[in-house]
Amino acid sequence: MLRVAIAGLGTVGAAVVRQLRANADSIALRTGRPVALTAVSARNKNRSRDCDLSGIEWVDDPCALAERADVDVIVELIGGAEGVARQLAEAALSKGKHFVTANKALIAKHGPALAALAEQSGAQMSFEAAVAGGIPVIKALREGLAGDTVDTVYGILNGTCNYILTRMRAEKLPFSVVLADAQKNGYAEADPSSDIDGHDTANKLAILTSLAFGVAPDISAVRVEGIRNITLADIQFADELGCRIKLLGVARKASDGIEQGVRPTLVPQSSPLAAVEGTFNSVLLQGQRVGTITLEGRGAGGDPTGNAVVADLMDIARGTRTFAFGVPAGRLGLLKPGNPRPICYYMRLQVQDRPGVVADVGGIMRDENLSFASLIQRGHSKMDSVPVVITTHEGDAEAMRRAVEKIARLPAVMEYPCLIPIEDDAP
Ligand SMILES: NC(=O)c1ccc[n+]([C@@H]2O[C@H](COP(=O)([O-])OP(=O)(O)OC[C@H]3O[C@@H](n4cnc5c(N)ncnc54)[C@H](OP(=O)(O)O)[C@@H]3O)[C@@H](O)[C@H]2O)c1
Repeated sequence: MLRVAIAGLGTVGAAVVRQLRANADSIALRTGRPVALTAVSARNKNRSRDCDLSGIEWVDDPCALAERADVDVIVELIGGAEGVARQLAEAALSKGKHFVTANKALIAKHGPALAALAEQSGAQMSFEAAVAGGIPVIKALREGLAGDTVDTVYGILNGTCNYILTRMRAEKLPFSVVLADAQKNGYAEADPSSDIDGHDTANKLAILTSLAFGVAPDISAVRVEGIRNITLADIQFADELGCRIKLLGVARKASDGIEQGVRPTLVPQSSPLAAVEGTFNSVLLQGQRVGTITLEGRGAGGDPTGNAVVADLMDIARGTRTFAFGVPAGRLGLLKPGNPRPICYYMRLQVQDRPGVVADVGGIMRDENLSFASLIQRGHSKMDSVPVVITTHEGDAEAMRRAVEKIARLPAVMEYPCLIPIEDDAP
């Protein structure tokens, strides 16, 4: 029997308890031994839980679970990179208890140190649920593609952002209205900044980058930009250009290192990523031999995420042991940030409608060796500003940044330009 303790009985923790109970027979059949819950812990013993805890011992202090002789695996479903979650991980792994978590912040920040502890004590550390909820992308990278060489990882990794962008387009609503409604309906947190400013995606991308390229996760090397400044106008112009705007996490091999970025991005409507709507997530993996693999599904929610936790427990029950990041912790390389490759851009300007503005913009672009691919101008107004949308041919990212700085200083340009990369070869 594999004896499991769970710390954290919220959305994901309760789902894991339900699944372990409901599927106990088939789990035992498939792993060759029962997987039994022996103890649980959370903050408030008296809170009513969305699961049956009868016959399972309650423990007030989650870290005490690591001391118990009747526990083989600790499942951490509390959250946070520090505090109880980290203490529990360290206590469990140093005592040789296997450790399963859904905590992307913990793994992105302390993953290699925890993996080293696991290796020293002979324990397994697994975190399938930490990235893209119900989508088995960790296993795909760590095991399925282990023999290939991965060049690129693209992902829509945050359901809240994808939900907001989808509704803005479908219902022609501004960002603030959709965000407020998403908060009311439970699709966005009361403090939505980790989601909409891209940090949640950055944590997940740093973990995928580690698995794909054999380097330690490094959140500081991820260039992060969220979706706060995306307007309905951008979404509609993107539509006109045959594209959708998605918050993408992209990690790819560059000539000089690994490029990692989280940014709103225009993807062609023909790309599988464009068709991923609402709260769904999608990850595209490109291996040199296998080509492109697309994984799509529910990236959050109790049951999908709980299923990923249960799958990790079943691997441990079977006796499967893997290095947490696919290679020994001591052999994880240091990530060398690569320069972004030349790429096409979408730039929206809000300008005074007077002759010569586009020529001034064109002059700045020419001086930076950048060129227009298309230009859209809507409306005509002597009094107000009008939007002008420019798409560029492939250009150097640094040159584009300098051009935007100069364009923003033109007297006829009324707002800081909105610049969005176009992944026009998104698979
Ligand atoms: N929700 C999702 O869809 C999802 C998807 C992927 C990954 N995750 C990850 O899964 C983890 C859990 O998320 P969740 O959504 O299930 O969170 P949640 O619903 O907020 O549940 C958190 C649980 O942790 C307990 N807890 C909080 N602080 C504690 C402390 N100091 N000591 C002991 N217990 C404490 C809470 O206890 P009380 O109930 O007594 O307050 C609660 O049971 C996080 O790392 C999250 O990033 C979640």
